Amino acid sequence: MATDNLSEPVPSEPVDPHADLSSVLPMTAETRDGHLWVGGVDMVELAREAGTALYVMDEEQIRHQLREFRKWTTFHWKDVETVYAAKAFMCKAICRVVHEEGCMVLCASGGELAIALAAGVPASRVQVHGNNKTPAEIREAVLARVDRIVADSLLELERISAVAVELGVEQPVLLRVTPGIRPDTHGYIQTGQEDSKFGFGLNHGLALAGVKRACELPGIDFAGLHMHIGSQIFALQSYSKAIEVMVEFMAEVQRETSCPVRDLDVGGGIGIKYGLADEPSTIEQFGKVVVDGIKEECERHGLTVPRILIEPGRAVVANAGITLYTVGVVKDIPGIRTYVAVDGGMTDNIRPALYGARYECLVANKADQPRTEVVTIAGKHCETGDLIARDTPVQPPETGDIIAVCATGAYCHSMASNYNKQVRPAVVFVRDGEARVVVRRETYDDLMRCDTE
Ligand SMILES: Cc1ncc(COP(=O)(O)O)c(C=O)c1O
Repeated sequence: MATDNLSEPVPSEPVDPHADLSSVLPMTAETRDGHLWVGGVDMVELAREAGTALYVMDEEQIRHQLREFRKWTTFHWKDVETVYAAKAFMCKAICRVVHEEGCMVLCASGGELAIALAAGVPASRVQVHGNNKTPAEIREAVLARVDRIVADSLLELERISAVAVELGVEQPVLLRVTPGIRPDTHGYIQTGQEDSKFGFGLNHGLALAGVKRACELPGIDFAGLHMHIGSQIFALQSYSKAIEVMVEFMAEVQRETSCPVRDLDVGGGIGIKYGLADEPSTIEQFGKVVVDGIKEECERHGLTVPRILIEPGRAVVANAGITLYTVGVVKDIPGIRTYVAVDGGMTDNIRPALYGARYECLVANKADQPRTEVVTIAGKHCETGDLIARDTPVQPPETGDIIAVCATGAYCHSMASNYNKQVRPAVVFVRDGEARVVVRRETYDDLMRCDTE
């Protein structure tokens, strides 16, 4: 590959034009008459009918993932709750699916809480976290009577207490602790190290002081401890190490205070397969490492095993999603590269620009052909870094083709923006041959909805 004006080198893996993409596509994906189908729906037809850019989610796979998390955690210990981290992909439809599958919803803001409640999820099945919740967000959560608020600081404890006292309620609270572990993932998505904006560190007695304060404040029911060490984690040892630290801290809490730790929340972060070379662990392996790890550590310290909470986000929705685009300009720069421009980009998928994330792509209307061309899929926005996939194999692309980008179900729709005043795409759930629009495409009117003059 020629040198270029794109600063980061791309790893030069050998490209197999016949590589099987099924491990990064939704579980119901198949090829019929040369087209990509998902959930029994022809993606090329859907793109023509619903327009592009378009997010498509395989509902069957979302349900399957949620069931797998429940199955492989409660297999090892009866008292485990799967709390879907809605930041990965949030709308009313996903909240209903999560609730129907017996899981809880984790909200990262007042906006997410409003959506979960509007979707009909009972507040008793909702939890709220965030490193700097506003006083208004705290009030909304306490007023709704959510199952747990994860408190990140002494200031938040004071604020939760004040609202709970005013409303005459006891608010169950978890204390977020940073166990001092750096998992094997991008620096931007490591969150459990001591040098972090999140939670209470263990050094200098900060976390213990937080627990003591939570226990003495009126209106607060100290329910237990929370950690979240990062995202897109492949090495399960990172969880094992963090669990060792957290259970040791539970023992310290037991020794030093009279506050029982009823809940231990290990957060989310389970990695998923974006590229064919990625080898994330399975949900079964995750369940075993986390639940057995907590049980063993509790036994070693003579502690009662708490209720265990897990908070998967990406692993529930990422591989269930694809994004469809229509190819516009194909620009070949001899000796350098071919740019294939699509009708979306960093506004519907910021991850390549933000983290250098890589995706597998295919031409949905040529799905039965080998991916013999190496091209760069570019967005339509006014930034050189607006690329969806650099130097990636696809079937020979032409103007009008439909490109499918795999594994875009997480942190794409939820991070979408209106940069360049691009309207955000619709989201379509597909299942058993049916396609339903669960989030409609924005209109130009939506872009001006908040203008006051
Ligand atoms: C507290 C918390 N829990 C869970 C998650 C979900 O992480 P993931 O989508 O990587 O599973 C996040 C995401 O950053 C988070 O901040």
